[in-house]
Amino acid sequence: MVTFERSKEVFKNEQVLQEEYTPDELIEREEEREDYIEALQPVANAASPRNIFVYGDTGVGKTVATRMILNELSQDMEQFDDVDVEVVWANCKELTSYQTAVKLVNSFRERSQKISMSGHSNAAVYDMLWEEIDALDATHLYIVLDEVDSLGTDDDLLYKLPRARSNQDINNTYLGLIGISNNFKFRDNLSARVKSTLCEHEIRFGPYDAGELQTILEQRAEKAFVEGMLISGVIPLVAASAAQNTGSARRALDILYNAGSLTRKKDADAVTEDHVREAISLVEKGVIEDELRDLPTQSHLVLYAVALLAEQGELPARRKRIYEVYETIATRLDTTVKAKRTVLNRLSQLSLKGFLHVDEVNKGRSGGKHYQYELDIKQDLLLNILSENTRLEELMVDQNLDQFS
Ligand SMILES: Nc1ncnc2c1ncn2[C@@H]1O[C@H](COP(=O)(O)OP(=O)(O)OP(=O)(O)O)[C@@H](O)[C@H]1O
Ligand SMILES: [Mg+2]
Repeated sequence: MVTFERSKEVFKNEQVLQEEYTPDELIEREEEREDYIEALQPVANAASPRNIFVYGDTGVGKTVATRMILNELSQDMEQFDDVDVEVVWANCKELTSYQTAVKLVNSFRERSQKISMSGHSNAAVYDMLWEEIDALDATHLYIVLDEVDSLGTDDDLLYKLPRARSNQDINNTYLGLIGISNNFKFRDNLSARVKSTLCEHEIRFGPYDAGELQTILEQRAEKAFVEGMLISGVIPLVAASAAQNTGSARRALDILYNAGSLTRKKDADAVTEDHVREAISLVEKGVIEDELRDLPTQSHLVLYAVALLAEQGELPARRKRIYEVYETIATRLDTTVKAKRTVLNRLSQLSLKGFLHVDEVNKGRSGGKHYQYELDIKQDLLLNILSENTRLEELMVDQNLDQFS
């Protein structure tokens, strides 16, 4: 018997399964690729670029496809002397129009010339932006606003960018805008003035089916895993599970990566279907955590109210009681105390999303009925995530729970 042995390698290159990796070629998105090529054709003809709005569920390749196609465009344009394309990306997550404009200005500037997120007038920031764009050593600029739905109804930037050239704010550079969104409501709710320009050309990315996911997974697995590590049912199982859920390639890759990591942790000889099943539940838990984290602060407050009631053994609780606790929390935090109706709406949304469980209780003959709520997720998990919300954290640290009773 020897104590030390060479540990078995599961992955040849695990980075291939991670989010930052860009695959060599785009597969299973032929139609979308054709759409893109058509929409970008004016650039190759040295004409004015079109604005493009790309939408579809999360994880269906919008970002990766856009990156790859714009790279191709820039490269292919090198053959023409009269076209030079530059591309700037900004992720709008948690930014306003103003902040995104600042970010864009800064993306053109050297470190010492960058401006701060506040302190300039709106007009001044746009002037700087136009100046930077006009000064570019390129004929065409595409600005890609990823996760553009984060801007919500604050559509100033989406209004101004497409009009900059016709307003003669910029004169030298042709400007095209690409907006990417996974929020279907955002598209429907765009104001008419923005929709008419931003959505000049729309490209929809549908969910992947199991067969498509399988091809994508196979392409990656070959590079990621040591040969012979995956038993034959593994990829179909991962693909089927992700297809059944949302058709997201991100989720499929995530499951496969987790299955590989589990195999390594257990020092097993191969990735089996059992590892996949275990990975699926891990990924599901992660998804719930992310969704919880991304909820607006007011929803966090409502959930915190329910969590406090849980700590005091007061669940299931009625809506009235939850509202009382919510009111106390919101007041202590010195934040807006929303009207009862609004909070009740949030309660039903939170149960639709699967964070709360609601029961309708009928009071027999008298005919009255009421709703009572319970947590539908683990209390520890919820409190952990709520404590990441800096405002709530303060309250949680110095709060004696009895004060809410
Ligand atoms: N057709 C594809 N071929 C290879 N890999 C893909 C393909 N589609 C998606 N992926 C991979 O799946 C993951 C998610 O894709 P991507 O980031 O493009 O999704 P998205 O549509 O932008 O999602 P979100 O709306 O959440 O931003 C990435 O790791 C990406 O490389
Ligand atoms: Mg994306």
